[in-house]
Amino acid sequence: MEERTYGMIKPGAIKAGCTGEIISRIEKDGFSIVAMKKLHMTKELAELFYEVHRQRPFFGELVESISAGPVVALVLEKDGAIVAWRELMGATNPAQAAEGTLRKLYGTSIGENAVHGSDAPDTARTEIELIFPELG
Ligand code: RTP
Ligand code: MG
Repeated sequence: MEERTYGMIKPGAIKAGCTGEIISRIEKDGFSIVAMKKLHMTKELAELFYEVHRQRPFFGELVESISAGPVVALVLEKDGAIVAWRELMGATNPAQAAEGTLRKLYGTSIGENAVHGSDAPDTARTEIELIFPELG
């Protein structure tokens, strides 16, 4: 079934000049890019985006790093897009990510792991609505 997920290239990967390679890989892996924009998340938007992690010890660090520079926000469509995108990203910690995954290729640490992806249909919907309200 065609499904949509929210993907994001994080500021560290953009600063390292990896945007094009990541977009290229997304297309090669058969995702349709339904929407794409480059934006600089304010701290307030980042806090809202990562609300579910508010109680985690790394919340402050997470908000700082995602608002440290521009991100590329993506709505990706494919059969089983949510799981497929998480497989393409690889494990949260790049050191544990499988060969060929985006986090293995472009991540440098657990905090600087190149990309984000929604983890379930409800978070995909919420994240898409938050960043792309114009699609609603
Ligand atoms: P994401 O939400 O970014 O796609 O990543 P994920 O589901 O694989 O990982 P999640 O548990 O949702 O964590 C969100 C982001 O927080 C950072 N993190 N830092 N310092 C730490 O122990 C730690 N743990 C997680 C990561 O950058 C992760 O992507
Ligand atoms: Mg997550």
